[in-house]
Amino acid sequence: MFHYIDIKPDWTTENELRFMCGLALQMGFEDILEIGCWNGRATVHFLQMGRVTVIDTFEGSNEQVHKEYFRKYGPEALYKEFEGNITNECQNYDYAWPTIMRSRSDTALDQLASEGKKFNLIFIDGSHEYEDVKSDIEKAFKLLKKPGVIFFDDLNWPDVARAVKESALDVKNYDGKLGFFMYF
Ligand SMILES: C[S@@+](CC[C@H](N)C(=O)[O-])C[C@H]1O[C@@H](n2cnc3c(N)ncnc32)[C@H](O)[C@@H]1O
Repeated sequence: MFHYIDIKPDWTTENELRFMCGLALQMGFEDILEIGCWNGRATVHFLQMGRVTVIDTFEGSNEQVHKEYFRKYGPEALYKEFEGNITNECQNYDYAWPTIMRSRSDTALDQLASEGKKFNLIFIDGSHEYEDVKSDIEKAFKLLKKPGVIFFDDLNWPDVARAVKESALDVKNYDGKLGFFMYF
């Protein structure tokens, strides 16, 4: 079962969520990792699929829209908003509470690897900076289960597209915003 929840902002579009969760449902992908979750818009959909781990500093990036958010609402607002959205869904639908890693992705991904964790759906949607994206991809690939899939959001950002292209993974959909790599 999948139900769509319209939490704003819809940086991850409804179509993207339907596509990722549709695949997860069809394939029985239950171990899900989201790198960069903001206020939990995608997370509340992934929770419907299975066990979810999220990584985020909850401090935003060096982007204008993020800076404005924290200037307006303060440094703890994003984590509180995320927690509120997750609480609503977990209480209403009895989903399992996600594992929340409040940290930079490089550190958190290393920790997951050292614990031997593996995921069959990884959504990379954190930093848009070239070096960070390269690191996220390299570390995420080591955490990918077979069968599995990595989704790359924001390929319309030149630095993100460059980092993904250089990863030498066979990623589909460079013409769009959301690309993916299948590992079967
Ligand atoms: C585009 S938003 C994520 C959107 C979210 N996936 C959604 O569906 O709405 C990017 C997130 O990445 C986080 N972020 C940026 N750089 C990061 C880093 N190096 N490590 C961890 N999180 C980071 C930001 O705090 C922000 O919440």
